[in-house]
Amino acid sequence: NQAPVITIDGPSGAGKGTVSQLVAEKLGWHLLDSGALYRLLALAASHHGIESDDVEALKVLAEHLDIQFKQSEDSKVEIVLEGEVVTQAIRTEIVGNQASKLAAIADVREGLLLRQRAFVQEPGLVADGRDMGTVVFPEASIKVFLTATPEERAQRRLLQLEQKGDVVDFDALVKTIKERDERDANRAVAPLVPATGALEIDSTELSIEQVVDIILSEAAKAS
Ligand code: C5P
Repeated sequence: NQAPVITIDGPSGAGKGTVSQLVAEKLGWHLLDSGALYRLLALAASHHGIESDDVEALKVLAEHLDIQFKQSEDSKVEIVLEGEVVTQAIRTEIVGNQASKLAAIADVREGLLLRQRAFVQEPGLVADGRDMGTVVFPEASIKVFLTATPEERAQRRLLQLEQKGDVVDFDALVKTIKERDERDANRAVAPLVPATGALEIDSTELSIEQVVDIILSEAAKAS
């Protein structure tokens, strides 16, 4: 008898991260940011000088990735890779793109599969990613597919980057987002598609709170 799981899948910039965190907080459930695992793998591979065509080494690395999600004093989560805090380091565009490339390799996904399933613990898990509802947790009680237009997602990303003091070109951002969508949706393994029975939410015109409320009311109905 496993703890319940809510999966929240969708493209980057749709608001999955923030929404998942808030839903997990409100319910008092655990959180799995599966994208962070792919990002951690990309960073670890670059630290160890493992090339993206060395599939065997990448799979071994995925299975043995030395990571910790530590709760810091201000209740923020710190991500530690091989003893080093990499919470910010994994959020760069370069790491994100590399993660997306490694994520297209079947053996890499296989290597991370059991590690992701190990996050299921009482009283429940909110899992955020691309294939949470389709592959990793097909038995999840609630599955959400969260989207927004590429332009809206680029706009949100632009604000985040500007807050960090980065200067970016909006059109270039839209282009990168569309390219990554293409790659994620059309890859042979675990493509980004809504799970059967998923509740599709388009967040383009919705606030974070509105999206969270929709999911919480689904959770209340299901319990
Ligand atoms: O969500 P985030 O941008 O952190 O994910 C980084 C990359 O990892 C994505 O672009 C996607 O290609 C990949 N990913 C995946 N499956 C997941 C989560 C992330 O393929 N469940």
